[in-house]
Amino acid sequence: MKPVRVLTGITTSGTPHLGNYVGAIRPTVRASRLADVESFYFLADYHALIKTGDPARVQRSTLEIAATWLACGLDPEKVTFYRQSDIPEIPELMWMLTCITGKGLLNRAHAYKAAVDKNAAAGVDADDGVTAGLFMYPVLMAADILMFNAHQVPVGRDQIQHIEMARDMASSFNHLYGEHFTLPEAAIEEHVATLPGLDGRKMSKSYDNTIPLFVPREQLRKLIMGIVTDSRAPGEPKTTEGSALFQLYQAFASTEETQALAKAYAEGIAWGDAKQMLFERLDREIAPMREVYDQLMKDPGHIEKTLKAGAEKARAIATPFTTRLRHAVGLRPLNLGAEAKAVVKPQKSALPSFKQYREADGQFHFKVLDAKGKLLVQSQGYAAPREAARDIARLQNEGLTAVASLGRQLELHADIDELGVALDAWRQFQQ
Ligand code: TRP
Repeated sequence: MKPVRVLTGITTSGTPHLGNYVGAIRPTVRASRLADVESFYFLADYHALIKTGDPARVQRSTLEIAATWLACGLDPEKVTFYRQSDIPEIPELMWMLTCITGKGLLNRAHAYKAAVDKNAAAGVDADDGVTAGLFMYPVLMAADILMFNAHQVPVGRDQIQHIEMARDMASSFNHLYGEHFTLPEAAIEEHVATLPGLDGRKMSKSYDNTIPLFVPREQLRKLIMGIVTDSRAPGEPKTTEGSALFQLYQAFASTEETQALAKAYAEGIAWGDAKQMLFERLDREIAPMREVYDQLMKDPGHIEKTLKAGAEKARAIATPFTTRLRHAVGLRPLNLGAEAKAVVKPQKSALPSFKQYREADGQFHFKVLDAKGKLLVQSQGYAAPREAARDIARLQNEGLTAVASLGRQLELHADIDELGVALDAWRQFQQ
């Protein structure tokens, strides 16, 4: 079975806090370890430009978020971990999507509408202070998702509308230009609680009530001691309901530990002692990661290298896929005129051929030839013939997308455009 593709990004405009950790980072890192998923995690630094005009902050936040993800256990060997701005195909796709997206659709985006409503309330022009970047935010996000044909996009509830818009754009594009995009779905973690902040409201940068994930131990203790509680004295029973302290504890502790704290509440534990328990529990989970984080932050060059390697992996998919999309919309090499028509109505005589053979060393190989017998691509060796057959089938079914995922298993002998045309013709013929 084909693995499920999961993709998510974090905007690089702030410092990760406990709410981000519990709500996004921890669940996605866990999910990335499952066997049958293929995950794409990225730093949405183009998106950051919409939120801030402070270059130092964008750079700092990119470093902090990358280090956080790695310190929390993301394995860049297993997942594709990259920085949005290293993939120039994304803004290119954004433009293609811009051209098939109704302006009215974007008018209805919550974030844009909120800005307009605020202006109306203030009695100023509807678009006062609204950049075209804010307006286009959902299109950039759709390009992030559709570029990698993600099936599932784990996001917070506030982002659901964006995923729906990405679906709309994908189907408009598919309708006009053929089936190129998978329709993505939002994956909402029902059981992941929104974490309360220091003041009991939702932990959020905009409320200035966050606990940064990787502050030094002593500072973490101080912040926790500052969490609001009620005025009940030591010995007086406390209620767990509506207690920010309790909810924070619950997000980190096991069921037994949580029950033990509930019991302590009922028995009148002093707030100071409860805070100390929370601090110790948090620090137990965070301390080992903090150590890695501190090391990583001292070596930005290492993170830069990791991201560049991730970008290479991502572009092995994005580059050929963009070639295919360019082809689909008519941005084509001019000397491919005749073949381009063949894509629409391929003749049997225009089809490529797939040949399996065995080398002297006993390994199985295959090659793809175009209709005229020109060598397009050749595979590395396989131990078993059915492995070669499986990859041939992938090329036949997925076209250039498969070329991207097969990566080094293939050796390209012609222009990728020519291969794209040949594989497209094969698929068109089968339909
Ligand atoms: N908009 C998301 C946020 O602020 C970040 C983001 C950008 C994203 N592109 C994405 C999330 C693509 C998921 C998929 O939280």
